[in-house]
Formats: sequence, C-alpha cells, structure tokens
Amino acid sequence: MKFFLDTANLDELRTGVSWGIVDGVTTNPTLIAKEGKPFEEHIREICDIVDGDISAEVVETESGPMIRQGRELAKIHKNVVVKCPLTREGIKATSALSGDGIRVNVTLCFSAAQAIIAAKAGAYIVSPFVGRLDDIGFTGMDLIRSITQIYRNYGYATQVLAASLRSPTHVIDSALAGSHIGTMPFKVLDMLFNHPLTDKGLEQFMKDWHKTFQEEPAAR
Ligand code: G3P
Repeated sequence: MKFFLDTANLDELRTGVSWGIVDGVTTNPTLIAKEGKPFEEHIREICDIVDGDISAEVVETESGPMIRQGRELAKIHKNVVVKCPLTREGIKATSALSGDGIRVNVTLCFSAAQAIIAAKAGAYIVSPFVGRLDDIGFTGMDLIRSITQIYRNYGYATQVLAASLRSPTHVIDSALAGSHIGTMPFKVLDMLFNHPLTDKGLEQFMKDWHKTFQEEPAAR
C-alpha cells in the first residue's frame, strides 16, 4: 500500500519524507489555500520535496477551462497528477486529459457507480472519501471494499486511493480492503507509529542494557 500525505504543508512533508515512508502527496484547494502561497509555485516546491505522485486539483467547474488548467498543471513537473472532480464536466475533462496521456486523479467520489465512471474515463486514480461518508452516517469503508471488488472484477487499471482518512483504523481497514493508496493528514501518519508496548519494551531494553554495561547518562 502506498502512503500519501494529504497536506500542502512543507514542514509536514519534509518530516514524512525523512521517515522514508511517504510515496506521494494529495492536495486540494482547501489545503493549498491554508498555506496561502501562489498555487503553481507551491506545487513545484512540493515536487522538490517528495519524489512521487503529487495531486494538484483544478479550480474550474467547466470542462474547457479544467482541461486548459489541467494541461498547465501537468507541465509543472513530471510527477504532477491532475485532480478533477467527479462531475459530468470533470469526467469530460478526465477523458480528454487522459487521452492526452496526462494522469488524472478523479476526486470527490462517494459511490461505486461514480468510481466505475472514473475508471471508464481512464482515470489514473479515483479518490473515494471515507471520513466524509462516515460524517453523514454511512460506513465509508464499505465504499472502498465495493470499488476494489468491482475494479478487480473488470481488471480496471485505475488505482483506488482511500481519501479522507481520519484515523489509524481507517488506514488499516483501507489496506485490508485492498486500496492501492491511502492518503492521510500528517497527524494520522504520525499516529501509525504509536503502540504502548513498543514504548514499554524499548524502555525495558535500555534499562537492562545500561544496568549491565554502563551507567545511564547523567541528566543534563
Ligand atoms: O483531500 C481529500 C480528502 O482527503 C479530504 O479529507 O478530512 O477534509 O474529509 P477531509
């Protein structure tokens, strides 16, 4: 499973990269706006930090301008994946951009039917939003299970990117469901490390070692 960071914050990206476990980045207009820097310049900086797929979302609603913006975004760096919304216009843009050989991440996917449409349009990635479905009383993970099953049935090449992941459980369940990619906020990636038995075990190992071989370093 690939781990993507769902953030446009450069410090968070640098930390994730230093751990060696970040395979790519997803951004959306909200995340980009939060950082307050010019869009294309910001995407370029992200590409300099993370060597992997970097999703940059179009901020247009009609297919013509989406296609034009998508082509410009794709020129920023070879790793840029253009993100289009799962609307009729977005799918029209996806078909056109995919036809040009530009990789598209179809976002705002909330049903299996929408995911089939994205695959048929030639999407490189589809992004079903788990947490936002949970928010309105559905089980978001059921959608990931349905899409991975359907894509397997037909051998669709589109990768399933479980998005809107809010907890380590979401990440584990997406992996169990066979999601190709999980994108998560930095906080969730950080939480994946945690286990009290790891901390307890390490503390004991250090204590036993120092008892026999040397004194524990004096506190400064
Ligand atoms: O980038 C799309 C998605 O991951 C957003 O997550 O938590 O805002 O629903 P969230």
